[in-house]
Amino acid sequence: MNILVTGGAGYIGSHTVRALQQAGYTPIIVDNLSRGHVESIPEGVTFYNMDIADPKLVDIMKDHHIIGVMHFAAHSQVGESMVNPAIYYENNVVGSYHLIESARTAGVKHFVFSSTAAVYGEPEVVPIREDAPLHPTNVYGRTKLMIEEMLSDYSAIYGSTYVALRYFNAAGADPSGTIGEDHHPETHLIPLVLDAARGKREHITVFGTDYNTADGTCVRDYIHVNDLAAAHVLAMDYLRKGGESQVFNLGSGNGFSVKEIIETAKEVTGIDIPVQYGDRRAGDPGTLIASSEKIKNLLGWDSKFSNVADVIKDAWKWHTSHPDGFKSK
Ligand code: UFG
Repeated sequence: MNILVTGGAGYIGSHTVRALQQAGYTPIIVDNLSRGHVESIPEGVTFYNMDIADPKLVDIMKDHHIIGVMHFAAHSQVGESMVNPAIYYENNVVGSYHLIESARTAGVKHFVFSSTAAVYGEPEVVPIREDAPLHPTNVYGRTKLMIEEMLSDYSAIYGSTYVALRYFNAAGADPSGTIGEDHHPETHLIPLVLDAARGKREHITVFGTDYNTADGTCVRDYIHVNDLAAAHVLAMDYLRKGGESQVFNLGSGNGFSVKEIIETAKEVTGIDIPVQYGDRRAGDPGTLIASSEKIKNLLGWDSKFSNVADVIKDAWKWHTSHPDGFKSK
C-alpha cells in the first residue's frame, strides 16, 4: 500500500501524509524542498530530496512497489505566476509531464492530483460545479488545467485512472499544532490576519471594498486542510477499487468575506487586529464558492472541520506555537 507523495513536505502534502498513515497506507515522499519543510516529515517516513522531473523516479516507484501517486508538488502563488510564468510552466507543467511519464513507465496506474478553483476563473454561477466553464485568469490556474488535461489524455489512451481535486481556499492546520502553513513569502489571507494579530505585521490590508458582495469585500470558500487530506485518501481508495477518472471540487460550500474572516479572527484570538483598506488585488474574482455535491455523492466525503472559527482556531494554535514556522525551536 505504498503511495508516492510529491510535495509531501509542503502544506497540504504534509497533512495528507498523516492521513495516509492513519488510513493504513505507507507514504513515500518526494520533495525538492524548494517550498517544503523537511521538519514536517514524520519520523520513519522514506523521503527523497528530489525533483519530480528526475527520471530516477521510475526506479524508485518500482523499488517501492508504488500503487498510486499523490501529486502536490507545484508552485502555487497566483501573483508570482503572473510575474514569473516560466517557473510555473517549467515546474508545474513540464515537471508533471515527467512525473506522469515516470508513473506510466513504472506501471503505476493511479493518480490523485492537486488542482485548484483557479481553473474556473471568474465564475458565471455560484456555487461553482465541476461542469462550469474553465477560463483560468492567471498562469497558475492555466498550468493546473494543462496538467488535468494531460492526466485525462493519459487516462483515455494509456488506461491509467486519476482524480483531480479542485481545492478552494485551503486553510487551518492540524489541531495537534505540530504542522501548519509556512509559506515564504506568505500571501494568504488567514495567516496574514493572524500575523497582524500577533504583531508580526502592522496591519492586515483588505484588498478592495467595492466588490458586488454583501459587505463589498471578496467572498471565499475556506476549507480545512484536514478535510482536504481526507478527500485524498478517499480518492485513492476509490481508484484502487476500480473507480473511473473524475474531477471533484473541494470546498465547504460556505462563503465568507474578507471582513468576516477578520472579525472571526478577532473573536478567536481576542485581539483587536489592526485593519487598513486598500485597492483591489489584480485578478481577484469577487465570489468563489464551491459546490462539493459531486464528491459527497460519489465518495461520501464531507467537510467535517471547516467551520470557519475552528479553521482559524487551528491556524492560530500553529502560528502561536511556531512563531517562525518550522524553523521555530
Ligand atoms: N486578501 C486580502 N488581503 C490580503 C490577502 C488576501 O484582502 O493581505 C483577500 C484576497 O483579495 C482574497 C481573499 O483575501 O479575496 C483570499 O485571498 P488568498 O490570497 O488567501 O486566496 P485566493 O482566494 O487569492 O487564492 C487561493 C489560493 C489559490 C487558489 C484559489 C482558489 O491561494 O492558489 O484560492 O480559490 F487558486
